[in-house]
Amino acid sequence: MELADRVAIVTGASSGIGLAVARMLVAAGARVAMVARGLERLQRVCDELGPKAIAFPLDVGDLAAVARLPADVVAKLGRLDIVVNNAGVHHRGDMLRHPADKLATMFTVNLVAPVVITRTAADVMPAGSVVVNVASLAGKLGVPGSAVYSGTKAGLRLWALAASDDLERRGIRIGNVNPGPVDTGFFDDDFDNVSALTFSQPMVTPEAVAERVMQVIHSDRTALDLDIPYTSGKLATISYLVPGLGRLLRPMLERKGAKAKARYAERRGQLPRSGDAPR
Ligand SMILES: NC(=O)c1ccc[n+]([C@@H]2O[C@H](COP(=O)([O-])OP(=O)(O)OC[C@H]3O[C@@H](n4cnc5c(N)ncnc54)[C@H](OP(=O)(O)O)[C@@H]3O)[C@@H](O)[C@H]2O)c1
Repeated sequence: MELADRVAIVTGASSGIGLAVARMLVAAGARVAMVARGLERLQRVCDELGPKAIAFPLDVGDLAAVARLPADVVAKLGRLDIVVNNAGVHHRGDMLRHPADKLATMFTVNLVAPVVITRTAADVMPAGSVVVNVASLAGKLGVPGSAVYSGTKAGLRLWALAASDDLERRGIRIGNVNPGPVDTGFFDDDFDNVSALTFSQPMVTPEAVAERVMQVIHSDRTALDLDIPYTSGKLATISYLVPGLGRLLRPMLERKGAKAKARYAERRGQLPRSGDAPR
């Protein structure tokens, strides 16, 4: 896809993976509707990216506002060609730690909002447009300590793969990018409750994930479902298909992950605390 003068929505654009995607889109000549809740940080990154980055402050958990977003973007920027559903939330640990409404919010933000944006975007996007979801390897293999998050990301992936037929009838492509651990601020909220298993896989940069998002945007195929790292994706698929093997590997992966988590904590200037033992 030629990106000069195309218009994209990127949710969760003020940090991490979303910011890396927005940078690449702007560098390729696209204009980007930058979505996040915190206005100050959002405005700061828009100022940094220049006039092609335009702030659309919004909580994607507000489904009425999310439904209006594609039409609002077309009204302000003239067209809409790309939607990157990237904003996500993860309330970590045993699901019984959290009240029910907090668990429901994860589904609203991670799964329902992308469905709603895509549905209303499809009415205003021309043929040749594309939707990309940032899902997770946790959506390929349920991660203990991330049960609800895993459910939201598995739902996101499967919805997109099934919806590809419906969207194709309008000439719109859809695809997923499924990262393992990514070096962003995503773990900082509740580091103690990030499972050791999460850290057992090689950590990648937000830029490497953004490259995969760009790969989906530039591809002429629909229903792409790209894992990063590739080998971690294959390990997740095999463990899903052969649960006995997954159970066998888990203690070894948890030991490896606990060490990687401690190294990461040290690097981020955080002291490992009592909850950092393998789960
Ligand atoms: N980091 C990882 O290890 C990892 C691994 C696999 C998948 N992922 C997925 O990658 C996506 C991006 O994560 P990240 O690591 O880049 O996180 P991040 O650095 O924490 O960035 C999250 C972005 O989303 C915005 N955001 C959060 N909740 C929002 C909401 N309700 N409405 C609008 N914007 C919202 C945040 O800004 P405000 O707070 O100002 O709204 C911020 O711009 C998420 O979907 C996550 O599940 C991450």
